[in-house]
Amino acid sequence: MKVPFLDLKAQYNTIKDEIAPALQQVLDNTAFAGGPFVAQFEKEFAAFCGAKHAVGVGNGTDALWMALLALGVGPGDEVITQPDTFIATAEAISYCGATPVFCDVEEKTYNMDPAKLEAAITPKTKGVIPVHLFGQTADIDPITEIARKRNLFVVEDASQAHGAEYKGRKAGSMGVAGCFSFYPGKNLGAYGEAGAVVTSDDALADKMRMLRDHGSAKKYYHTHVGFNCRMDGFQGAVLSVKLKHIDTWNEGRRRNARLYNESLKGTPGVILPQEVDYAKHVYHIYAIRVKERDALISKLGEKEIGTNIHYPVPVHLQQAYSSMGLREGSFPAAERCAAEFVSLPMFPELTAAQVKYVSEAVISAVKR
Ligand SMILES: Cc1ncc(COP(=O)(O)O)c(C=O)c1O
Repeated sequence: MKVPFLDLKAQYNTIKDEIAPALQQVLDNTAFAGGPFVAQFEKEFAAFCGAKHAVGVGNGTDALWMALLALGVGPGDEVITQPDTFIATAEAISYCGATPVFCDVEEKTYNMDPAKLEAAITPKTKGVIPVHLFGQTADIDPITEIARKRNLFVVEDASQAHGAEYKGRKAGSMGVAGCFSFYPGKNLGAYGEAGAVVTSDDALADKMRMLRDHGSAKKYYHTHVGFNCRMDGFQGAVLSVKLKHIDTWNEGRRRNARLYNESLKGTPGVILPQEVDYAKHVYHIYAIRVKERDALISKLGEKEIGTNIHYPVPVHLQQAYSSMGLREGSFPAAERCAAEFVSLPMFPELTAAQVKYVSEAVISAVKR
């Protein structure tokens, strides 16, 4: 049996009949850059997240960048995030001329460890970006409490957590802004590049709308030197169609995670993902941890099972950030995880038989 790591076609086949007319509508209206289909999706996505506004942008990196710029982050500032994330979280901070500072993670959730946050704060710190890694929300309450006391903003990187919840609150709605990527493989994925920031702060939403559109609120009148970070019309239309299915798809992922957990429970040498009490995990990624990762990946490969590693090198050890001078051992929890993570196939359309096949292959591969 062949089990791909991700099968976007399987999902496309279930919604083909809705996608084609949605794309045709964009063509008929020639509404290609921004426009009514983006505005409609923004309205629907804000409501989905329980926020007042959504601002559609070109991708998730733009979402973080626009949010930070609108919050006034600039040269000389520091913004704290975690080292085990996709590099874009740190890049957005760098784009503003600010410095990313890292806070190690909890080994139970792989998210920012609130107990280690205070130590990362300096007089230059402007804010904190917890990442809801793999689809489970960070422990936002203590992070927000520390940030509030020190007058820092909290921006959520919810790029992997569309529809995830923290104590019943939706990912993206808890910080002053929540940033999403709609990269095609995400839980809510566009058919191209797209992203959004959600916020309930009117002034911040206005500022981000202006910044994404060349610093103008009124066409050809520019109050700021802005950027072109608009979402395109086709993506707005596709995302509106797909948003109607996200809850069902997330349930599919949760079902598959439960099946993996049941089959792999108690396997010696394998650490399974843990869903903690406060969270509703949406399993963008189902990552296990094993010491002998290369051997496992190669044995699964022989059985035509696709795997991935999210992420093999934590951001503080990436060559791109070598000038920061951070060495191995700086963030031990994130480094241990990065050395052991293996992401197994995970998507809503994965069948129970496929999960069983993958689980049996993992069990036999790790047996001595
Ligand atoms: C945690 C995280 N942050 C930011 C991004 C950047 O999003 P994009 O690729 O849409 O720019 C991603 C996407 O992979 C991500 O996973």
